[in-house]
Amino acid sequence: MKAIVHHKYGSPEVLTLEEVAKPIPADDEVLIKVHAVSINGSDWEGLRGKPLYARLGGLRKPNNKILGSDVAGRVERAGKNIRQFQAGDEVFGEMPSYRGGFAEYVCLPEKALALKPARLTFEEAAAIPQGAVIALQGIRDKGQVQPGQNVLINGAGGSAGTFAVQLAKYYGAEVTGVDNTGKLDFMRSLGADHVIDYTRADFTKNRNQYDLILDVIAYRSVFAYQRALRPNGSYFFVGGSVATLFQILLLGPWIRRTTGRNVRLLAVQRNRNDLVFMTELCEAGKIVPVIDRRYPLSEVPEALRYVGEGNAKGKVVIEVSKG
Ligand SMILES: NC(=O)c1ccc[n+]([C@@H]2O[C@H](COP(=O)([O-])OP(=O)(O)OC[C@H]3O[C@@H](n4cnc5c(N)ncnc54)[C@H](OP(=O)(O)O)[C@@H]3O)[C@@H](O)[C@H]2O)c1
Repeated sequence: MKAIVHHKYGSPEVLTLEEVAKPIPADDEVLIKVHAVSINGSDWEGLRGKPLYARLGGLRKPNNKILGSDVAGRVERAGKNIRQFQAGDEVFGEMPSYRGGFAEYVCLPEKALALKPARLTFEEAAAIPQGAVIALQGIRDKGQVQPGQNVLINGAGGSAGTFAVQLAKYYGAEVTGVDNTGKLDFMRSLGADHVIDYTRADFTKNRNQYDLILDVIAYRSVFAYQRALRPNGSYFFVGGSVATLFQILLLGPWIRRTTGRNVRLLAVQRNRNDLVFMTELCEAGKIVPVIDRRYPLSEVPEALRYVGEGNAKGKVVIEVSKG
């Protein structure tokens, strides 16, 4: 099969279109012919091997050489222990190791998959998994957002942020979105009540305080985040610098004890219920999986560059084959 492969970490130039072995499903896996795969910030991190946590699957070079997490396609063959899916089913889900998706075929365990609703295209379904589930667990589960609360999403114009802004509005919050200059109108179009251009202003220094901050691109000191929280407010680190991550793990418990402010890491627990919940909101039109651009498989390097250089508004989707 064809796949986009990288043998070392680096810029999009290290990616090549290659013939590789078609994966063989284990007994508890499903072989899927991929129709669409979407790009997440984790693909850009996995390509460059930065931050350091992006090298968990290979410190000096990637062990699994194919990037790509969020796939949608048709079941070609089901392993012998598979009960819920059969050949021909239209499915979508997230690759367990954030890798393997930029390919014509993937194998996924049953529990990572859901049936694709007929009303959503393969491209729309592929746009949902990682970003939508991060948003759901950050806004509904950990954040427990209530109507009227002040919620700030840092990195609101990207994959997870696009879902998080819409979901926080869905739960009745007053939402501030933070992203670059080119995404201000886009964040407003998603429902953000206020927008901040991170290239011109630092949301931790404007004296505003929030009930919840969901941060997909954290790199500040933990004390800056604490300053931007209301008493009893919560901050969740989704992704960002390893230095910030360590500060949160080391100092978060102390900040909670001494100030009552909750500064934590959001460690996403993948599960089918959350994926289905978000997909139903998308089907009902309450949340929109916003697709900015589509590229063919051979143009994954250009697609990743578009995302990595900060242009993408919402999701970029790779059309691997026609559905
Ligand atoms: N915690 C978990 O369990 C878990 C699970 C999966 C993924 N993740 C993490 O989730 C993170 C990425 O999420 P994503 O897919 O939503 O990324 P994304 O699509 O790349 O979006 C990130 C957004 O942040 C913007 N941005 C960049 N620098 C910024 C700054 N200084 N201030 C505010 N916004 C800024 C980007 O715009 P520009 O265009 O300007 O760069 C982009 O719009 C990754 O770090 C990934 O590792 C975490």
